[in-house]
Amino acid sequence: MERISTGTILQQTKEGPVEKNYVMAYLTMVHIDQVLALQQEVYDSMDDRQKFVPDPREFFEEVALKDGKGRMIGVFVEGDMIAARSISFPGLSYENLGWELHLDDEDLKRVCHLEASMVRTDFRGNHLQGVMLKPTMEYLQQAGYCMVLCTISPFNYPSLKNVMDAGLVIRDVKVRGGAYGGKLRFLLALNLCRPVHPTYADLCTVQNTDVTVQKSLLSLGYAGYALQKLPGKRKFFAIQYGKPYPELAGQVAVDPLSKS
Ligand SMILES: CC(C)(COP(=O)(O)OP(=O)(O)OC[C@H]1O[C@@H](n2cnc3c(N)ncnc32)[C@H](O)[C@@H]1OP(=O)(O)O)[C@@H](O)C(=O)NCCC(=O)NCCS
Repeated sequence: MERISTGTILQQTKEGPVEKNYVMAYLTMVHIDQVLALQQEVYDSMDDRQKFVPDPREFFEEVALKDGKGRMIGVFVEGDMIAARSISFPGLSYENLGWELHLDDEDLKRVCHLEASMVRTDFRGNHLQGVMLKPTMEYLQQAGYCMVLCTISPFNYPSLKNVMDAGLVIRDVKVRGGAYGGKLRFLLALNLCRPVHPTYADLCTVQNTDVTVQKSLLSLGYAGYALQKLPGKRKFFAIQYGKPYPELAGQVAVDPLSKS
């Protein structure tokens, strides 16, 4: 097992939080049964199954754990896998979300999809999804991938928060077919190769459930770049939208995916 890092995290127990040592490592095919068991446990524990579509065994065999097709990171406590994250490299296949953003062939080849992440319920609250994203992004940069794309439910605050903290911004929202089975999903994107990070103008705040307004803003070139919790509410939260501008130049609006 190729180790990435070690550290301590809190496990929620009946007696209160307990500190545990963890090991984060790249996964291989030998871990497939542990991944599937974790995925089942996470899925069974969900309050709202709209938020998460479990992947079939073939996805892990043929994509996530297959060299050149994908990669997986896992987090282990006392030998048990308590969290995992998968990514994939769709290349020029029709599944590449970059087609929707009109990327050219060269950029499509350098797309990475953030696929599933899952954390066992007793280890939530440690931002482990974000912790696993850090080495993921470092690996992608080293391996020459530029465009990081993913889809997330507009109702999944923790997942949106973790990937938006890593720099991904909301670029689209729509009902998706295929494996998503007609579920509403945001499309989020980050160009890791873009040297200047955008700042945002013409700011406005929209509730996550207000899909019509978000669709209009996105069609006008806005991007959703930050979240705010709403006091006393858990299902609803606010999303900050704005028009992306280059950090230093000022006047010309740029697309957050552009190369300069
Ligand atoms: C999404 C998931 C991986 C995140 O786990 P995690 O990294 O432990 O995230 P945390 O529990 O630390 O929460 C991150 C943030 O969400 C908030 N949060 C957590 N659960 C929440 C809930 N049910 N409702 C609202 N906010 C919630 C936390 O307060 C934290 O907010 P902050 O950053 O503003 O302080 C985990 O919730 C999970 O496995 N969910 C089921 C599978 C899934 O939906 N995967 C993502 C789609 S593939």
